[in-house]
Amino acid sequence: MCGIVGYIGPRTAAPILIEGLRRLEYRGYDSAGLAIQPDSGHLLIRKRQGRIDHGLAHLIAESPAPGSTGIGHTRWATHGPPTDANSHPHTDASGRIAVVHNGVIENFDRLKARLRAEGHEFVSDTDTEVLAHLIGEEMGRPIDPGATPADTLLRAVTRALREVIGTYGIAVVSADVPGVIIAARRGSPLIIGVGAGEHFVASDAAALVAHTRQVVYLNDYDVAVIRADGLSVTNLGTDTAQVQISRLEFDAAAAERGTYAHFMLKEIFEQPDTVRNALRGRMDFNEATPRLGGLNMTLSELRSVDRIVIAACGTSWHAGLVGEYLFEEFAHLPTEVEYASEFRYRNAPLDKHTLLLVITQSGETADTLAGLREARRRGHRVLALCNVVGSTIAREADGGIYLHAGPEIGVASTKAFTSQVTVLTLLALLMGRIRQLSSARGLQVLRALEAVPGQLEEILAQEGHIAALARKYQHARDFFFVGRQYQYPVALEGALKLKEISYLHAEGYPAAELKHGPIAMIDAQTPTVVLAPADGLMEKTASNLQEIKARSGPIILVTTRGQDALAAQADEVIWVPPTLDPLYPLLTVLPLQLLAYHIALLRGCDVDKPRNLAKSVTVE
Ligand code: AGP
Repeated sequence: MCGIVGYIGPRTAAPILIEGLRRLEYRGYDSAGLAIQPDSGHLLIRKRQGRIDHGLAHLIAESPAPGSTGIGHTRWATHGPPTDANSHPHTDASGRIAVVHNGVIENFDRLKARLRAEGHEFVSDTDTEVLAHLIGEEMGRPIDPGATPADTLLRAVTRALREVIGTYGIAVVSADVPGVIIAARRGSPLIIGVGAGEHFVASDAAALVAHTRQVVYLNDYDVAVIRADGLSVTNLGTDTAQVQISRLEFDAAAAERGTYAHFMLKEIFEQPDTVRNALRGRMDFNEATPRLGGLNMTLSELRSVDRIVIAACGTSWHAGLVGEYLFEEFAHLPTEVEYASEFRYRNAPLDKHTLLLVITQSGETADTLAGLREARRRGHRVLALCNVVGSTIAREADGGIYLHAGPEIGVASTKAFTSQVTVLTLLALLMGRIRQLSSARGLQVLRALEAVPGQLEEILAQEGHIAALARKYQHARDFFFVGRQYQYPVALEGALKLKEISYLHAEGYPAAELKHGPIAMIDAQTPTVVLAPADGLMEKTASNLQEIKARSGPIILVTTRGQDALAAQADEVIWVPPTLDPLYPLLTVLPLQLLAYHIALLRGCDVDKPRNLAKSVTVE
């Protein structure tokens, strides 16, 4: 889950690379580095452990690296601890080839042993350094007659990659091939930015959008030769590859923090608009049904689906759990939700009418991508709910629905969750309306969805109250989050949010499950967030609230405005407006996001870049 950037053009590369890396730091921030190809015929390598502004930026200020071609990297450590030596770029034995890499080379041990036996010496623990030495070794072989230096570098890179087992997104520069960057990908995303007389390469569009919105998405096995004035792409498998230019759907401001203290806070407050974006053009009130383009399935094919399997990870898996209830309620479709990491290795019995639905914000999560490929390998149709246009999963699925939530930079996923649940609601409603669901019910759900953005704004207005709760409970060491049915996935999501940005222990449970063991942990120091909106199970959850209260457990209740009797039994209350039972997750998750954000802030945690995490998990 590292970040790669590259620049080639008339401008000085280092400041462009540094700024691009800052925009990718959410992908990994253990160390950062640059390799600049100046006019003087040797590479300038600058790299240091730690965050860019604590390390690399100072290094560049102390020791400038002039040059108009360069590559950069921000690292999430996989092989070897975050040290200067393990930072990328890595060079070959000669120091004239530099490589930055996102991914895992699974056979690097064997390759390293072979190279060592041939006299190569290594200065790092990384798999990437082995790749650099492989390329350097290939560069030393006899040059093909008539080959240009760029041809020779391209040949060296492709031959080295043919020895690699694993995943990579790489950029390579050579001191002997001025004005050229070689980029290649298999399993880790790479995008080329097309500018006027300059080109860029990056792991994701956030690093490019300030310079250009014209991009080329590389496919697996593509190898690109990038120059200031153009690019060519070949594919290691097919020997040809078309260069298709796409336009990014968001602008630079969408990838910037603006006036917010953190990206996470910005993205929490964006949710009224991002839910509007997810709904826009997809609700047909006349027909009382959603209109979803991009599924690439006829209504008849959708009607023939008799089972849905959802595969996802983390927050997206929680959204999938909401989807399970939605598909069962609206369409009476048997649905099961799998962790993608489990699904990919299971031999799950899927028949030809089973639809696999993968849910992912980034569109690059390795386990989710592997689940998609496994199902497609067996001939099953796969739909993807995805946020990043042109991402690998979006391109490999048979069809799908984009979230249109804009870039989600904060490592803790927030707006993606509510957009995923919104889109799942639309898809489940469509599946119901082409089956047995009445137009009256369809219209009721569409009207309720239409009201959600305004209701989210109402809840956001309680931020001050929620921040006060954070101050009151910031010293607790353990939290429980409980809810029933649609609120159970929200309980899991609330617990994950708190864990991943405040590092506090938190668990989500079905409310009724607490008494089957976990309630033994409840005491006056252990707050429980009880999700009990005025849905069909509120009274049942109220009894669970009593069980917690009887053991002196502090209770933070999330319920519907007007439920005063229930509120009187809790220590704290956060109100949400009334809506339909299936739509409450869109509302009740918001207070939990804010609670986690403010507790983490009070605990001095880095909200946008929590320790040990990265935004897009592109390794297993
Ligand atoms: C959620 O806050 C985490 N950042 C993480 O669990 C994330 O949801 C998970 O890695 C899945 O990512 P994806 O949606 O991009 O596939």
